[in-house]
Amino acid sequence: MSKPPMTADVRVDVHLTPEELRAALREDVASGLRAVPKDLPPKWFYDDRGSQLFDEITRLPEYYPTRCERAILVAHALEIAALSNADTLVELGSGTSEKTRLLLDAFARRDQLRRFVPFDVSEATLRAAAEAVAAEYAPVAVHAVVGDFERHLATIPRDGDRLVMFLGGTIGNLAPKARHDFLRDLAAGLGPGDAFLLGTDLVKDVDRLVRAYDDAAGVTAAFNRNVLEVVNRELRADFVPGRFEHVARWDAEQEWIEMRLRSTVDHVVEVRDLGLRAVFSAGEDMRTEISAKFRRERIEEELRDAGLELRHWWTDPAGDFALSLSFPA
Ligand code: SAH
Ligand code: TRP
Repeated sequence: MSKPPMTADVRVDVHLTPEELRAALREDVASGLRAVPKDLPPKWFYDDRGSQLFDEITRLPEYYPTRCERAILVAHALEIAALSNADTLVELGSGTSEKTRLLLDAFARRDQLRRFVPFDVSEATLRAAAEAVAAEYAPVAVHAVVGDFERHLATIPRDGDRLVMFLGGTIGNLAPKARHDFLRDLAAGLGPGDAFLLGTDLVKDVDRLVRAYDDAAGVTAAFNRNVLEVVNRELRADFVPGRFEHVARWDAEQEWIEMRLRSTVDHVVEVRDLGLRAVFSAGEDMRTEISAKFRRERIEEELRDAGLELRHWWTDPAGDFALSLSFPA
């Protein structure tokens, strides 16, 4: 499905209409609130308010990943442009595409930038970012795609030699099986002239990890609780966010941060559009998000299993975050 372009050089393909999104949310909430323990999947965090809160998270003193990844890009964007030799930048989970400008600049400086393809589930944020990039980087062609990167990778345009980027450590928000399927589908869609640039947060001191997901100002807590507002609005539920406490804990065995919402009282939540009543006891946790942290060997092996060869690896000076560049094997 295509909508008419808003300006001469922005095109937006919508593979997920608001109606389809709502249907997917219904399914996720129906199964998540019946599961033991209860859970809510993370892609629902990013409504307009959620996207704004995430933007605030990226500027928090405790949230190091964005700054570290930016530092790596400042140091290596030109090298990445040269090594990939791409003329098309595809960005999965692009959000505001803020750090991406470092790569767009490097590609433009090398006269290597023909096309930019931002891909995100959050249509409003995506459209705004696509418009902004088209204006700043004319005459680059911007071809935005609204979709779910767990379902719609095959809809990504194949024109040009592509560098597909997946930044921000978002891959860590996928559970192991989903991550495996994602990498397999991604690799299947890459041609011989394509490359994959992946941002992964690394295993480190537990206190720093936990603080990055439980900041002093409470922005991450607000972000986590915002998912309840999304369900209230979209499915006519009556969650009272104030009855839930934000919890972030390190799972040492899985090496991931787990985010939860903990009910502080015994209560019942009604989801009118689902005809569902969910009983919460005081102290009961609902899982909302994982954020897996990696070691080089593990990500290299997962990429290899998917048919990708990791050829370059960069970290910030402290070794907190990594960017890797891989090619179809
Ligand atoms: N790349 C940016 C934003 C990361 S936040 C950065 O590094 O700062 C994660 C982004 O992924 C959000 O914009 C969210 O809307 C998007 N997202 C989350 N789940 C998604 C899914 N299943 N399919 C497509 N986009 C998704
Ligand atoms: N991809 C980001 C990360 O894992 C997303 C994120 C940051 C996040 N803080 C969060 C997701 C808090 C849920 C809750 O770091």
